[in-house]
Amino acid sequence: MTEKRTKPPVKEETDEFLTLDYNCLTSEALGAGKGLGPEDLAEMKATLAAAYKDIEARYRKGLLPFMDLPRDPDTPKAARKLAEMGRKRFETVVVLGIGGSALGAAAVFNALRPLNHNDLPPAKRGWPRLVVCDNVDPEGFASILDGLDLKNTFFNVISKSGATAETMAQFMIVFDQLQRTLGRSAIKEHLLITTDPEGGVLRKIADSGDYASLPVPKGVGGRFSVLSSVGIAPLAMVGVNITDLLAGAARAQEDARKPPAANKAYLFAGLNHLMTTAKGRNILVMMPYADSLARTADWFGQLWNESLGKASRLDGTPNPWAQTAVKALGATDQHSQLQMYMEGTEEKTICFLGVDGFRHQVNIPSIFRDHEELAYLGGHSLGELLSFERQGTARALAENGRPSLTLSIPKISAATVGYLLQTLEVAAVVSGSLYGIDPLDQPGVELGKQFTYGLMGRQGFASFKERYAKGLSAKKKFILR
Ligand code: PA5
Repeated sequence: MTEKRTKPPVKEETDEFLTLDYNCLTSEALGAGKGLGPEDLAEMKATLAAAYKDIEARYRKGLLPFMDLPRDPDTPKAARKLAEMGRKRFETVVVLGIGGSALGAAAVFNALRPLNHNDLPPAKRGWPRLVVCDNVDPEGFASILDGLDLKNTFFNVISKSGATAETMAQFMIVFDQLQRTLGRSAIKEHLLITTDPEGGVLRKIADSGDYASLPVPKGVGGRFSVLSSVGIAPLAMVGVNITDLLAGAARAQEDARKPPAANKAYLFAGLNHLMTTAKGRNILVMMPYADSLARTADWFGQLWNESLGKASRLDGTPNPWAQTAVKALGATDQHSQLQMYMEGTEEKTICFLGVDGFRHQVNIPSIFRDHEELAYLGGHSLGELLSFERQGTARALAENGRPSLTLSIPKISAATVGYLLQTLEVAAVVSGSLYGIDPLDQPGVELGKQFTYGLMGRQGFASFKERYAKGLSAKKKFILR
């Protein structure tokens, strides 16, 4: 990454890109014992000050390079070039990736392009469609490939390690199909490889075959990579305003370096840490009240769970704490999950993700006025109904002693989404510091991969196949008659 820093303009009328309302976490709202009291908040002030010192020191040592991504000038330049080329030439951009190599692009696309982007006719859409392939279900993958005209399709294979079985299997299938359909020499025009700048088999393939490639910056893990080439290139190719997205994130990063008391990333981390350690709330339900933020909840799930689910602390002692992120969607899941949040076991904090003003206003007509069960709806908008549902649900939970906090953005725009993502990424790192764990690694996912390699016959992993088979020789089937 170069040292040159540019400050892109932020085109936003409002000053506040994100607000954090934690009234419904306090003892005032929930009652003594259930909510956070002044003594808890005073304790939080001290722990956040220590985390701030720790993170600032790590940032200055260059150990948190994701914090510099919003101001990296090279990636947007490359992405804009691709976008210019792709807009004229391609009908569809397909991302082949999984986890952190897929969820960021999926979240931002969901938030910032029209929800029906892929279904619009090309002239109305103005940009290629985006398809994110992040599974190897044969039926799912076959149905995606079946719907593509390869002549008009651009593939971006994304894998930092270049070793992820799912992504590499997809890549091999696509490469083979391109070769058979369009000929080997045409592949170059249809392929972008995003991977480690130096290591891994995908880097070797990119360099030896002279395929277009972009680097995943060193030290940036998948779940912190949405604002690197991993997210920025495919998003630019489908018409996302990456200038404003990065500008919003840059502003969040500036705010995240302010003292913790005035810093939403730190407050979000500190409050959730307290709810977990002091109040036993070890589940965080991320519940956006906007269809366009549904995939942001998926992205957040990976960020929080892979960052915070750690068995050991950095000092080698066992880590007894974790806050598992799960997702819900308002208002839909009020009718499927809310009963549990209201009256079920008390281990949850709900994080509402709200939008103050929607991009479309849909009014409910004032008809059926003589039916009082319907008359109250007429004259309101769907946006009002959704926002009141969110507020009403937070209040109902609080009256039942159930904690919630609300993150809200004034409107969904490239800048506010960039701000939100960067703030939550910093919050994950702050949380890591509060729990005393490493939020940047994911040792727990390795063993499953090794068993898969063994079962698939990868060289060097035969012992995992034997280990897997141990004790499983007799398949047991229980049939109830
Ligand atoms: O956050 C992470 O590090 C993971 O979710 C990875 O992104 C995921 O496993 C894919 O890895 P890779 O990009 O190496 O294919």
